[in-house]
Amino acid sequence: MSRNESQSSLFRKKPIAVSGEERSALKRVLGPLDLMTLGVGAIIGTGIFVLTGVAAAKYAGPGLVLSFLLAGLICAFAALCYSEFASSVPASGSAYTYSYTAFGEVIAWILGWDLILEYGFASAAVASGWSGYFQSLLSGFGLHLPHELTSAFSPEKGTYFDITAAAITLIITFLLTRGVKEAARANGIMVALKIIVVLIFIGVGVFYVQPDNWQPFLPFGISGVTAGAATVFFAYIGFDAVSTAAEEVKMPQRNLPIGIIGSLAICTVLYIVVSLILTGIVPYHMLNVSDPVAFAFGFVNLHGLSWIVALGAITGITTVLLVMMYGQTRLLYSMSRDGLLSPVFSKVSGKSQTPVVGSWVAGIVVALFSGFISLGHLAELTNIGTLFAFAVVSLGIIVLRKNNPDLKRGFRVPFVPWIPILSAIGCVYLMTRLAMLTWITFFIWLLIGLAIYFLYGRHHSHLNSKSFEE
Ligand code: ALA
Repeated sequence: MSRNESQSSLFRKKPIAVSGEERSALKRVLGPLDLMTLGVGAIIGTGIFVLTGVAAAKYAGPGLVLSFLLAGLICAFAALCYSEFASSVPASGSAYTYSYTAFGEVIAWILGWDLILEYGFASAAVASGWSGYFQSLLSGFGLHLPHELTSAFSPEKGTYFDITAAAITLIITFLLTRGVKEAARANGIMVALKIIVVLIFIGVGVFYVQPDNWQPFLPFGISGVTAGAATVFFAYIGFDAVSTAAEEVKMPQRNLPIGIIGSLAICTVLYIVVSLILTGIVPYHMLNVSDPVAFAFGFVNLHGLSWIVALGAITGITTVLLVMMYGQTRLLYSMSRDGLLSPVFSKVSGKSQTPVVGSWVAGIVVALFSGFISLGHLAELTNIGTLFAFAVVSLGIIVLRKNNPDLKRGFRVPFVPWIPILSAIGCVYLMTRLAMLTWITFFIWLLIGLAIYFLYGRHHSHLNSKSFEE
């Protein structure tokens, strides 16, 4: 291919040196502990505190623990792939940036657009879960919001807008625009509280387990376990958000893999134990409630502890929102800096040197989603978008090994190509377990994205003007 042809190709690639060393306006302030806190902060939230109950009651029964194991295994493979990319292409933007170097611009755009869906819908879903717990806490004090404003748009139920979900989204946006270190500090305290609450649940709950509740173990068979895995997969999402912080990390080639794999490992262990105890305390068919973990303590008359767990869940879910929305703004930052999105998303300003205007644009859109769309829909859309991204990143490792064998890698995935292939197969399999409506919405989203790329991004891409050597 001649140089001109390669520069106008849909598959033109961003050289790795440029991805990794591009002058960043962001400050390098985050160490390994900050990253693990960011990771655990992003992972433990609505998934374990809300969706576990639905998954146990509707799909997996006490076999929920197997759903967590299956989803955790697939995530572990994907996390290894994320770690290799993060340690070789340490730039903001996560999977988007990786695929810009591995697959070329159009695929990078598709993935970036897909990740906007992941982070945007995940933030909205998490805000919606937050709203449920918050309202049940309020009702404990006898306080109630006007019914119309308690839940997503559903005229038949008389609800139109979830005002609490939208409000918490805007509050978090405000916090993020104050600066990363400040946000990370607030996050650290909340993550510690969340882990303490999970440990209390485990430490106390274990004495209330009735092994009879684990019988029958697989009331819906193996297919229930896999459908459960496609749902609780949501609980693992977030470790990938660690890599969106790459440009603000000290020694990223060492610290990013520690942050990604470490936080996933901690959460996997906690989830397995929590799901065993939860289904051991409460018969699985009674778990379809909006606050299953707090409900379990109420079920065995530990009402004080139930209240503490609810408070911890609210705190925990807040940190997920913080990290997801942070990931969203940094992804938009990267895509905008490459010229594929409006420059407004990469303009840093204020004392905090963060993309203030871009953060507010994203925050307001997410607030609207969280106000109007129901948790179930938001969670499924998040899952399909994330599974797609994980599959592409996993295959990207094989391509990167082939095309850039000598690249300096701080971390290498073992058994390539087998682990990336298993990861991609696992992700696509879980995607097949999601509803048709989710697939249709996902394709519409991707089509809109392609239209934007051909009308805007392709002409404004910085690869048009820079004379990169392939
Ligand atoms: N893993 C995150 C949660 O469960 C998205 O809330």
